[in-house]
Amino acid sequence: MSTSSSSAAERDFKREFLKILFIVFVILSIFFLIFFVNHHENNKYIIKTLELNGSAEEGDALFKINCVGCHGISARGLVGPDLHKITKRLNDKEIIKQVTGGLTPPMPSFEIDPVNMSNLLKYLHSLE
Ligand code: HEC
Repeated sequence: MSTSSSSAAERDFKREFLKILFIVFVILSIFFLIFFVNHHENNKYIIKTLELNGSAEEGDALFKINCVGCHGISARGLVGPDLHKITKRLNDKEIIKQVTGGLTPPMPSFEIDPVNMSNLLKYLHSLE
């Protein structure tokens, strides 16, 4: 009698344990999926941007609207650093991440479509 009741409790415990394990597994899968989709979208954005050959003039105009407040009217630096020769220090992928990622507050993240991002890159390359 005592052995059968303890094994029933054991079975309950195992069932609960499996249930929790399953829930944890589902939650982890969801996180992984979100991460993967996000990563994939970012990569697609970067590849698309790098395929384009932007215009430095358009990029200059975009820079004057969005960036001069912090990087100065001729990108010589203000709150944010001087961006001359930035393309020697950071590659295009790193610059895209800097501009769209919001990784270094107070610099905000910008939602820029690939064409305009490509224009900005061309402008930054022209600052060498
Ligand atoms: C609110 C102010 C602000 C605005 C607006 C801003 N930035 Fe920045 N940016 C910064 C600051 C501050 C840093 C330095 C971040 C750090 O490294 O800690 C920075 C860093 C950078 C860097 C990396 C510089 C380096 O030496 O590593 C690049 C490239 C850059 N910004 C480009 C841009 C572009 C392009 C825009 C416009 C689309 C822009 N920023 C708009 C404040 C700003």
